[in-house]
Amino acid sequence: MPQHTFTVNGEQVTVDVADDVRLLWVLRDVLKITGPKYGCGINVCKACTSHLNGKAFNPCAVRVADLTPDDEVTTIEGLADTVEGDLHPMQEAWLERDVAQCGYCQPGQIMAAVALVNRVRAEGRSITDADLDQIRNVCRCGTYNRIRQAIGDGASRM
Ligand code: FES
Ligand code: FES
Repeated sequence: MPQHTFTVNGEQVTVDVADDVRLLWVLRDVLKITGPKYGCGINVCKACTSHLNGKAFNPCAVRVADLTPDDEVTTIEGLADTVEGDLHPMQEAWLERDVAQCGYCQPGQIMAAVALVNRVRAEGRSITDADLDQIRNVCRCGTYNRIRQAIGDGASRM
């Protein structure tokens, strides 16, 4: 089997899997990093949303062979390590707003939210309702209102 090397949550890993295996299954089944959830497997539901080099992406849509040793993947498990403190400010906002219902979509929602806020900040502006409308992560429990409120709170603390 070919070997693939990249960084996950600050640690360099090398995996021995076929080129066309999607990264989501490498994370979950090989590396046992299960925060990124399997919802659809076809880049639609966004339950697996994580960060690749600081930007939101969906590991169910990326072949492991497309990663390079310079690529840095961050999952919900590594998000808090990107800041000072025990939790990322977006996670704190999520807890205070008691956003989660069943919880399945929530890691992806938080990762999408953090990437969105960082992108908007890089453009030198604050987050708007139009920005929030761009988030396409599905929540079958319908927690969308609380998600939007928590993103506003989290953004103000980031
Ligand atoms: S599982 Fe990745 S987008 Fe649905
Ligand atoms: S909290 Fe249940 S799917 Fe979103």
